[in-house]
Amino acid sequence: MGKMTVCGAGFMGSGIAQVCANAGYAVSLWDLTDELAEKGKANIAAGLERQVERGKLTTQQKDELLSRLIPCSDLSCVEEARFVLEAVLENPGVKQDLFKKIEARCRPDTLLGTNTSYIPISSLAKVLDHPERFLGLHFFAPVYAMKLVEVIRGDRTSEETVQRGLAFVKSIGKESVQVNKDEPGFIVNRLNKALQVEAFRLMHEGIASVEDIDKAAKLGLNHPMGPFELNDMGGLDVTYACLNLLRELTGDDRFTPIPELEAHVKAGEYGRKTGKGWYDYQKQK
Ligand SMILES: NC(=O)c1ccc[n+]([C@@H]2O[C@H](COP(=O)([O-])OP(=O)(O)OC[C@H]3O[C@@H](n4cnc5c(N)ncnc54)[C@H](O)[C@@H]3O)[C@@H](O)[C@H]2O)c1
Repeated sequence: MGKMTVCGAGFMGSGIAQVCANAGYAVSLWDLTDELAEKGKANIAAGLERQVERGKLTTQQKDELLSRLIPCSDLSCVEEARFVLEAVLENPGVKQDLFKKIEARCRPDTLLGTNTSYIPISSLAKVLDHPERFLGLHFFAPVYAMKLVEVIRGDRTSEETVQRGLAFVKSIGKESVQVNKDEPGFIVNRLNKALQVEAFRLMHEGIASVEDIDKAAKLGLNHPMGPFELNDMGGLDVTYACLNLLRELTGDDRFTPIPELEAHVKAGEYGRKTGKGWYDYQKQK
């Protein structure tokens, strides 16, 4: 399948690296330090081990997949990559700096994709000499389970790049939808934020509890998870940053984070990844 690099070995980056390695790509998993990159691979290994225990994967399949994942902190890994997918912090400056460094080292025909949730693709592409090979490839959490990838066309993305993006998504066994206009939130997050902002408001105004809003969404709308449960999975810190960014990009005060969300984030309660968010997972254990 060839070589590729995933930048960012956090929650999304490690998930993306896993599905790509599973599809047969040789994946360099890059992060700021070797420790962070290795932690990303260790998280993938732990998830695969659980699948082995449940009989969903053989030890040989797990070992083969892991052998295709190379953690690294040196950007020389992009030099031979056909695809570079970025999943670092949701911050325009951080992403732009990284893409400038990537473009300086990668091949001229390497496809560059960002997993940004909200940042307009075209604003990230401004720093590139070749924005025509840049696009959004937006995955969903947890990446191994969620079928969809949004393929987002920036103002200067070429048709060839969109087609390569669609073919890439197919090659890793995912389904795609095309987003033809580069607007914050694309399709899924625009839909999701409408529900999430309303759920936050219902709770903040004392109309219903977190538990009952989640129950209402599951039993009344047939959603598999409630908006607060979903938020605990994706990360309250990520939502907080995204809402602030959306408010800045759209000028719409609807996106101002409620004080309860801010309090959880300030307390380091980011959801499942820290053991506590809207729900307390330590207590549940
Ligand atoms: N969490 C979700 O549900 C979700 C879903 C879709 C898309 N996304 C997007 O994916 C991206 C990553 O989100 P995540 O949830 O994996 O976050 P995360 O915090 O788990 O991972 C972020 C990674 O960025 C790295 N990083 C931090 N500062 C950096 C810097 N200055 N330069 C380079 N790397 C740096 C960190 O070491 C970390 O590994 C974001 O753009 C986010 O909006 C997240």
